[in-house]
Amino acid sequence: MTTISCKGLPQISECAKFVIDLCEGQKVWVFKGELGAGKTTLIQEIAKQMGVLDRVSSPTFSLVNEYQDQAGVAFYHFDFYRIDDVEEAVEIGVDEYFHSGSYCWVEWGERVAELIPENFALIELLKGDDEMREITVKIILDGE
Ligand SMILES: Nc1ncnc2c1ncn2[C@@H]1O[C@H](COP(=O)(O)OP(=O)(O)OP(=O)(O)O)[C@@H](O)[C@H]1O
Ligand SMILES: [Mg+2]
Repeated sequence: MTTISCKGLPQISECAKFVIDLCEGQKVWVFKGELGAGKTTLIQEIAKQMGVLDRVSSPTFSLVNEYQDQAGVAFYHFDFYRIDDVEEAVEIGVDEYFHSGSYCWVEWGERVAELIPENFALIELLKGDDEMREITVKIILDGE
């Protein structure tokens, strides 16, 4: 488990790089933090650094957005904030996405906790004053 302080948006690129390095080897990355903690903002920067060409924004009308890099490699961005029933996630085939071998970035994954794979990266964002954020990365293996 590693924690860093992100002292504001000018540091976001450095923070994203740190997260990418620590999450290496994991395909499912779960971003946890209260409303406005900065999950989407961090995912936008991570996506940019990983070569995503599309505009990155939280999926609103669906549960998932698909992005691609220059080579056509797919990346998936989920937001389960508005989900009423885990069944909705099952219906869109979340399990297949999570086991597809593609990178999956997940907001509000705690709302579908039972569908999150055994192995994943957990990125927790803690909101401090103004633009301060504490970012903790934990690699969860076999659900622990
Ligand atoms: N250090 C920082 N890291 C990330 N976001 C920051 C930081 N400082 C300030 N912000 C701001 O905080 C806000 C975070 O909004 P964002 O949509 O990323 O949060 P979120 O966690 O995805 O919220 P939601 O739960 O509603 O999806 C943005 O306005 C962003 O500019
Ligand atoms: Mg968001």
